[in-house]
Amino acid sequence: MASTPPPRTFHVKSFGCQMNVYDGERMAELLTAQGMTAADERGDADLVVLNTCHIREKATEKVYSDIGRLRRDDGTSPLIAVAGCVAQAEGEEIMVRAPSVKVVVGPQAYHRLPEMVAQAAAGTRSTETDMPAEAKFAALPRRRKSGPSAFLTVQEGCDKFCTYCVVPYTRGAEISRPFADLVDEAQALVEGGAREITLLGQNVNAWAGEDARGRKAGLAELAEELAKFPELARIRYTTSHPADMTDALIEAHGSNPKLMPFLHLPVQSGNDRVLKAMNRSHTADSYLRLLERVRAVRPDIAISGDFIVGFPGETEAEFGDTLRIIDAVGYALAFSFKYSPRPGTPAATMDGHVPAEVMDERLQRLQAALNRDQLAFNHSSVGRRCSVLVERRGKREGQWLGKSPWLQSVHFIGEAAVGDLVTVDLIEAGPNSLAGTLVSA
Ligand code: 5AD
Ligand code: SF4
Repeated sequence: MASTPPPRTFHVKSFGCQMNVYDGERMAELLTAQGMTAADERGDADLVVLNTCHIREKATEKVYSDIGRLRRDDGTSPLIAVAGCVAQAEGEEIMVRAPSVKVVVGPQAYHRLPEMVAQAAAGTRSTETDMPAEAKFAALPRRRKSGPSAFLTVQEGCDKFCTYCVVPYTRGAEISRPFADLVDEAQALVEGGAREITLLGQNVNAWAGEDARGRKAGLAELAEELAKFPELARIRYTTSHPADMTDALIEAHGSNPKLMPFLHLPVQSGNDRVLKAMNRSHTADSYLRLLERVRAVRPDIAISGDFIVGFPGETEAEFGDTLRIIDAVGYALAFSFKYSPRPGTPAATMDGHVPAEVMDERLQRLQAALNRDQLAFNHSSVGRRCSVLVERRGKREGQWLGKSPWLQSVHFIGEAAVGDLVTVDLIEAGPNSLAGTLVSA
């Protein structure tokens, strides 16, 4: 491969979950630390990093079409690096099929990106998909600048092995980053301007560590420590597994005022046979009882969920149980998906493939129920006075956009600045946002 001048500008394009967004930001920081500058337009950048997601089908095809689209009018391409979970799962194949890709780097190895990019510019393509992640975090630079709302990865990987899911294979076994490192990164984010931190992990509530005095700590204790930063106003976490909702974490929703009243707790299905086949380790009833306990300590908590329709063998009656659990919970927000067979997962070879039309129809009914509840939740918020963390300007003159404690988008008109925590009266609700009026200080 011929050598090219070292890239001076880059663009990182992240797909999929918030952890990929976090990883994308860290890759951008690594490249910036090498003296490169971020380019807005993908087409103009010397280096493009495609930070991919493998959770559902067509992920790989999408990567190839993105690679194709990066070709410039004159037939040249930027230096392309494929990162993320598709890189982890199919890196070797990508190298063979896409000669314009010069670097393939898995999610646990991206601390090596700058060095691999330099090698690529010098003419050597390389693939790095080693796990696990410990070395990566140690190698990342200290963070400097942050928007008002920042992500902080505290835990990676998953040991749950839900039968439909590729995450245990692409992200590997669960690892928890050390307490002290997280407090340090949080401090850097706060000093860089963050007023809200969302703790991230594939199984974030499985995070476990030891505090400064050597005592066992879970997410509740970590959140308590972070709450000590005076400038940090809000703490969130995602994604949780019902099996790891400890008593301490539930209690924290009542005792830690900085922990926001929002819980993303995927249930996937409302039917016990399907849940068992998914290897979910909870039943519909144990899930509902768990939510009762959370609501007992924090009655206004907003519940969010993930759902899969058309898991192998799912009958109409079993799907009906999912609609019933939705009615019982009243989700404030939800993400729903058609089952997608992932290579290497146990569910991919199960019997009872659900026809595409049936899946489509079920997804429509499910989403109608979820949309109805999201709108109802937003309507029930009208009349509330709450804090809003201002994230950016709106389209209209003098308008600002931010988030309520319940993660709703709120817009209002008035004097404010990005990063302000303002008090707002919620006056009008739509399906995806609320209008508020600024309460003068
Ligand atoms: N098919 C469809 N949805 C899936 N999810 C994970 N794996 C699959 C799959 N194979 C969904 C789950 C999970 C969310 C992140 O993605 O609902 O909670
Ligand atoms: Fe996947 Fe289940 Fe782990 Fe979530 S808990 S990442 S769905 S295996």
